[in-house]
Amino acid sequence: MPTLDPHSHADLEQGRVKHLDVRLEVDFDRRVLHGEAVLHFEIPGEGPLDLDTRDLDIHAVTDRSGTPLETSLGEPGGYMGTRLTVMRPAGLQALVVRYTTSPDASALQWLEPANTAGGQHPFLFSQCQPIHARSMVPCQDTSRARITYTAEITVPEPLTAVMSAAPGKARPGPRPGTNTFAFSMPQPIPSYLLALAVGDLASRDLGPRSRVYAEPATLEAAAWEFAEVDDMLREAEGLFGTYLWERFDFLVMPPAFPYGGMENPRLTFLTPTLIAGDRSLVRVLAHELAHSWTGNLVTNATMNDFWLNEGFTVWAERRILERLQGREAIALAAAIGRHGLEVDMAEFGEDSPYTRLENDLAGIDPDEVYSLVPYEKGFLFLTLLERTVGREAWDAFLVDYIDQFRFTSITTAEFEAFVEDSFPGLLGRVGAEAWLRGSGVPDNAPVFVSNRLEALWRLADGWKQGERPDPSVASDWSTAEWLVFLQRLPRDLGGDGCAWLDEHFGLNQSGNAEILGEWLVMAATSAYEPAYERIRAFLGSVGRMKFLKPLYAALHRGESTRPMAQELYDAYRDRYHPIARIGLELLLAE
Ligand code: BES
Ligand code: ZN
Repeated sequence: MPTLDPHSHADLEQGRVKHLDVRLEVDFDRRVLHGEAVLHFEIPGEGPLDLDTRDLDIHAVTDRSGTPLETSLGEPGGYMGTRLTVMRPAGLQALVVRYTTSPDASALQWLEPANTAGGQHPFLFSQCQPIHARSMVPCQDTSRARITYTAEITVPEPLTAVMSAAPGKARPGPRPGTNTFAFSMPQPIPSYLLALAVGDLASRDLGPRSRVYAEPATLEAAAWEFAEVDDMLREAEGLFGTYLWERFDFLVMPPAFPYGGMENPRLTFLTPTLIAGDRSLVRVLAHELAHSWTGNLVTNATMNDFWLNEGFTVWAERRILERLQGREAIALAAAIGRHGLEVDMAEFGEDSPYTRLENDLAGIDPDEVYSLVPYEKGFLFLTLLERTVGREAWDAFLVDYIDQFRFTSITTAEFEAFVEDSFPGLLGRVGAEAWLRGSGVPDNAPVFVSNRLEALWRLADGWKQGERPDPSVASDWSTAEWLVFLQRLPRDLGGDGCAWLDEHFGLNQSGNAEILGEWLVMAATSAYEPAYERIRAFLGSVGRMKFLKPLYAALHRGESTRPMAQELYDAYRDRYHPIARIGLELLLAE
C-alpha cells in the first residue's frame, strides 16, 4: 500500500478528509469519550479509504443518512494503532463513525481530583502529537493532511471544556447536570494539533488577543508569570509576519502534563512548572508562540522531518527572546541548549542515526526517540545558515519561507530546494549534507561568545581546586546563570560539595523547577541524603518528562538509591502520563 508517512495508515492518494465534525460526551466515571465523528471529503470519492484508529470501540460506520458502510478493521499494531478501511460508494461526501474511546487511549490522561491544583474536580487532557490523535478520533493521522473542524463536547457540571479552536456558545447538555461546549476551527490543521482539556477552569485576559486559562488556584500566579505574552506576540509578528490564528490563548495544565508546552493552535498547553514567580522560565511560552509560524503554518511532512518544526522553533524562540532580553541572555540559553544536546547525544551514542536531523523512523515509535537533537542541532544548523548569509538576508528569507509554505507540510528535501533557490550554493558551502544526514554535530557549529558565560564556566571549572562562588554575589544570579553553573559542575559533588551548595543557596528549597531539577540530579548522583525528601516530593508532584527521566535515571544508576527509584515509581506511576510511564519503565528495566 503506497503511503507517504511511515506513521500513518492513511493513503492520501485515495482522497483527503478536509473537515471534521465531532460530538463527544466526556464520561469521567468510565474514563471514555463517546459519540460520533463526521469526516467530510475534499472531493466525493469511491473505493477504499484507510483511516487511523487506536483502541477505539467502533459501533457503526455509516453515510450521513445512517446507511451502514462496508468496513474492515486491521490487526492492532502497537503504537501504529489499527487500520480502519471504509468502502466508499460512488459520490460519498461524508462518513459517520460512532465510537467510544478506550480508558487507555494513548492521547488522553484522566486525572483524579487529588492530582489537580484545586484538588476538588477531575481533569482530562489530550496530547496528540506525534501520533495519538487516532486514539481520540478516527482520522488520517498524518501531518501531511490538514483539516478544519467543529466540535461539541458534553461535560459534567461544573467543568469547562476547551479546545484548540474558537469557542462558541455553551448550552445545557442533553442530560441534567451536563453542559455542551461548542468549538469551531476555521484554520486547517494537521491532526496532531487537535486538542481537548476539561476541568475546573477560570480565565483572564492578558491582552487584546490573549487570555490565560488555568485552574482557579493557579490563575493569579499564571497571569502574572505570563503577562509578557503580548510583547512576545508583537516581536514575533515583526520577525515572522502577521499572526494568522486570530487569538493566542493558553492553558496552564495540572502538574501531570508530560511536556513543557504544546503548541495547540489558539490554545497552547503549558506545564505549571514554568511558574517560578520571577518570569524566568517564559522561554517555553515564546517557543510555543513561535510554533504559530514554524510548525503550525509550515508543518513537518512526517516525523522524519520533525527538526523542521522544532529546530526552526528554537531558532525563532531565541530571536523573539533576544529582542526582549538581549544578546547575553541568548548566549546563555544557547549554552544550556548545547549542554542538553550533548547529554542526549551521549545517551544515543555519537554515531546513532537519531543524532541526524533528517531521519528514517519507519518501524520506530517516535515517542521512543524523542530528544533534543531536532531542537538544538536544528537550531545550530539554522544559526549557521543565518550567520553565513547575514541576519538581514536570513530574516527576509524566513518571511518568504513562511509565506510560501503556510498551511502546508514539507519535507527536508523541499526545505533544501527552497534554500537552494534563494541562496544558490549556500547548502554546499556550509556542509548541509553532514548537518542533515550525518550523525553528531559538525565542527563548523556556531559558537556563542559571552563574557558572562566564560566567567561562569571558569568558576565551575575551578570547583575541584576548591574554588566556590561568592554567596553574596551568587544569590543574585539569574535562573540561566545558575543553570549554566550547575550544568558545568561534576555530577558527583560528594556529600560535602552538595552540603556546601545547599547550605549557602538553599537549593533544596528552590521554587524554580529548572534549578531544582538540575540540583536534585546532582544530589541523587552524589547520594546526598538531605535531598531525598525533596526528591520524593518532586517526583510525586511533577509529571514533566524533562524532570522525571534524568532524576529517575540518576537514582537508578546509584547503587544505594536504586531501590528508591523503583519504590517511588511504584508509588507514583498512576500520576504519570502513559507516555511518561513507557519511558520510565524502559529506563528502570535497564
Ligand atoms: N511540540 C513540542 C512538544 C512535543 C513534541 C510533544 C513531540 C510530543 C511530541 C513542544 O513545542 C515542545 O517542543 N516543547 C518543549 C519546550 C521547548 C521550549 C523545548 C518541551 O516540552 O520541553
Ligand atoms: Zn516545540
